[in-house]
Amino acid sequence: MEDLLPKDLFAGQTVFITGGGSGINFGVAEAFARHGANVAICGRTLEKLEAATQKLEALGASVWCGAADVRDYDALWGAIAGAGEKLGRVSHLVCGAAGNFLATAENLSPSGFKSVVDIDLLGSFNAARAAFEQLSDGGGSITFISAGQAFVPYFAQAHAGAAKAGVDNLMQNLALEWGRFGIRSNSVAPGPIEGTEGMARLAPGDEEFHKRFRRSIPMGRYGTPDDIGQAAVFLASPLATYITGTRLVVDGGMNLQGSGILTSLVMSAGSK
Ligand code: COA
Repeated sequence: MEDLLPKDLFAGQTVFITGGGSGINFGVAEAFARHGANVAICGRTLEKLEAATQKLEALGASVWCGAADVRDYDALWGAIAGAGEKLGRVSHLVCGAAGNFLATAENLSPSGFKSVVDIDLLGSFNAARAAFEQLSDGGGSITFISAGQAFVPYFAQAHAGAAKAGVDNLMQNLALEWGRFGIRSNSVAPGPIEGTEGMARLAPGDEEFHKRFRRSIPMGRYGTPDDIGQAAVFLASPLATYITGTRLVVDGGMNLQGSGILTSLVMSAGSK
């Protein structure tokens, strides 16, 4: 997508992105880098982060990367402190690290449920809490990466739905509490984003499966990591200075009620 906002929009500002080494979160990191931000990323795999760092530096960004599991508060606090020391105060935070897989509730162990809630929900709280000191020292923004599962039940997604609904609730509580520190808190709920690990895990299917899936989305296509990156840039930008406590759904209309089986049945019945 063409960048329409200034290339120096975030010049001198630092964004910290959990899970920023790949997938949607790397798309977010690239979008911030193209708009002049200093970019810090963390994740569990250092090699992945280092490869991402090279790509972000090629876009002209100053980059910090470090291994930290969002479930480990002390590691995350250290990462956010380290990023702030190298790149300057973290004024924008994107809580993107997530874990997911398809499993029906009767096949899911308590430990599997807990893993996803720990990564998505506790991990998001950990990041926001660890970044608070820097975010509140002059104001800033937090953007949580939510999902359609937060507000629509999906088959085999009880764990992710519970976790992401919690993330959106946390987002609104922080908007309520931290507005007085100049911190805005919002979330982006991506639809199916092509080329990501999430898609590979949650939509495993052949060409026909994907053709039908695409056709079921009102906009007729999967999203790209940049669709989400641009939304995250918007929410952190001066265009959104009075927006807080909001979930921005970026899904091509996929989660609209009635756009699923009913739509395809009505269409196949020949309705114009
Ligand atoms: N179906 C059912 N249960 C599963 C599962 C699956 N596909 N994958 C893992 N689990 C269960 C494990 O069996 C285990 O439970 P148990 O102790 O009762 O056996 C539990 O989840 C923890 O598994 P483990 O592999 O030790 O967790 P982890 O902390 O190393 O990994 C996950 C976390 C499970 C979320 C893993 O999928 C992951 O690391 N994902 C990150 C990447 C990702 O999901 N990206 C897409 C985001 S949309």
